[in-house]
Amino acid sequence: MARGMGMGDRETSGRQRVAARDALGDGEMMRVTVDRRDVALYRIDGRLYATDDTCTHARASLTDGYLDGETVECPLHQACFHVPTGRVLAPPATEALTVYAVRVDDEGIWVGRPLRLGGAE
Ligand code: FES
Repeated sequence: MARGMGMGDRETSGRQRVAARDALGDGEMMRVTVDRRDVALYRIDGRLYATDDTCTHARASLTDGYLDGETVECPLHQACFHVPTGRVLAPPATEALTVYAVRVDDEGIWVGRPLRLGGAE
């Protein structure tokens, strides 16, 4: 689990430390907060990814759903998204998730600016 991260965990670049380095095992996901926005953090095959946590269909939390490889399935109506790109893989969602830059260092896991904005595909 992410431990309490304070204001000292933000860099001038806007990156924000959101979790301890080893907070996520492979194939796991967790919800973190970045600028009051719920973000889903994933570790897949050793790589870290971050997307919006809120499903673009009807606002369910994707981290309450299921992660299968690079696909996250919404728990409410089973829309599926491709985690690395945020793209919709299965309806009823029609809009992609925003994908964020994420990296890990000795201090922890950091989430930064959007790499790809969500919305209509
Ligand atoms: S809220 Fe996610 S598919 Fe409906």
